[in-house]
Amino acid sequence: MTLDPHDLIARFGSPLYVYDLDVVRARARALKAAVTYRPFQPLYAIKANACPAVAGAIVGEGFGIDAVAPGEVAMALRLGVAPERVLYTENNMTDAEQAEAVRQGVVICAGSLDRLRRLAAAGVRECAVRFNPDVGAGAHAKIHTAGAASKFGVHHSQVDEVLAVEAGTGLRVVGCHMHIGSGSLDADAFVRAMDVILDVGRRLPHLRFVDFGGGIGIPYRPEERAVDLPALGAAASALMADFCRAYGRPLELRLEPGRFLVAEAGTLLTTVTSVKRNPDSSDGAGRTYVGCDTGFNHLIRPCMYDAYHRIENLTRPHAVPAVIDVVGNICESGDVFARDRQLPMPELGDVLAIRDAGAYGLAMASTYNLRPLPAEVAIDHGVARLARRRQSVDDLLAAWEWRESAGGAR
Ligand code: LLP
Repeated sequence: MTLDPHDLIARFGSPLYVYDLDVVRARARALKAAVTYRPFQPLYAIKANACPAVAGAIVGEGFGIDAVAPGEVAMALRLGVAPERVLYTENNMTDAEQAEAVRQGVVICAGSLDRLRRLAAAGVRECAVRFNPDVGAGAHAKIHTAGAASKFGVHHSQVDEVLAVEAGTGLRVVGCHMHIGSGSLDADAFVRAMDVILDVGRRLPHLRFVDFGGGIGIPYRPEERAVDLPALGAAASALMADFCRAYGRPLELRLEPGRFLVAEAGTLLTTVTSVKRNPDSSDGAGRTYVGCDTGFNHLIRPCMYDAYHRIENLTRPHAVPAVIDVVGNICESGDVFARDRQLPMPELGDVLAIRDAGAYGLAMASTYNLRPLPAEVAIDHGVARLARRRQSVDDLLAAWEWRESAGGAR
């Protein structure tokens, strides 16, 4: 079996998401090695990439799952993760979703005082609480998940209210949780937030675990440096060890990264469908648009967060470099993967690789313009396997009711 991307496209179609499971496992092992504190229970934030081949590889490394919705819980349980290793870090869940999660036996991490009270009212015995430490971080304002402007968590100053729920009911807060944002390369922000969250933890008498969340960034841009993972792991381990000495018993440490584990393992392969040179005008120099057969429907990060993704011309790596705009096939001007990018000049039919697309790629994809979702392929020990079949237009149309529609056509 050859792994030439052109062959993968011939076999599975274009565009195509490809995940290298060896890279996923390597990241999982690096995280485990970086944290010296024991007991340590890493979780995988499955929202980053729920593909069972990918998530299963991480679960196989001993990770539990951090979930935020019933579908993610269902996926975790289907992957064979024990319910007590599934943390349901809810955000504005419904009472029906709460009831189902309780029935499934997963641990709910409450993100508001009213959810905490409703857990108590339902007779739930144990839960975690997500606190907002007022320290946010992240690669873009839209993915800061703590601080004054954030909708997430119980503010760290509201511990008394949490204790009041504990005192008045049979509910015990067994987990103290934070998640301050996503994609940060700033290890200091994590450590500052950990300090705040451990101050909260000191006041909660029934803890079994402390969860410092996810958020570890990756170097998307060539000039960016990866987070010093051993240093971050050592800092978290030292803080936790000190905390537990004062607390009087050893608690479990948890981290729940998503992006760090899967982003670099994923590539979106796409085929060039048009190359167009607009002439110079009074508005400025002409631009070269390289259009391809995917768009923000399949990878929304550049459009949504101004995110940078490396792009390679796999067909013509040695062509003369040109400065081009790489654009998609969606009917919106914002459907741009890269502006003014220097790339070996593509020609029609060339295959481009959009790198670091394994996190929040297909996971955030849509069927806008009625374009079906692409297939996913997992490469395991050098063997490529279909992980999710390409959606068809028929799959898309089948979800609608057709009886009452004009002409009653099917
Ligand atoms: N834990 C919780 C409670 C979260 O909300 C998240 C991400 C994570 C863990 C994992 O964060 P990570 O390690 O992946 O940074 N769509 C955005 C990222 C949104 C992240 C939302 N929450 C992006 O494409 O950059």
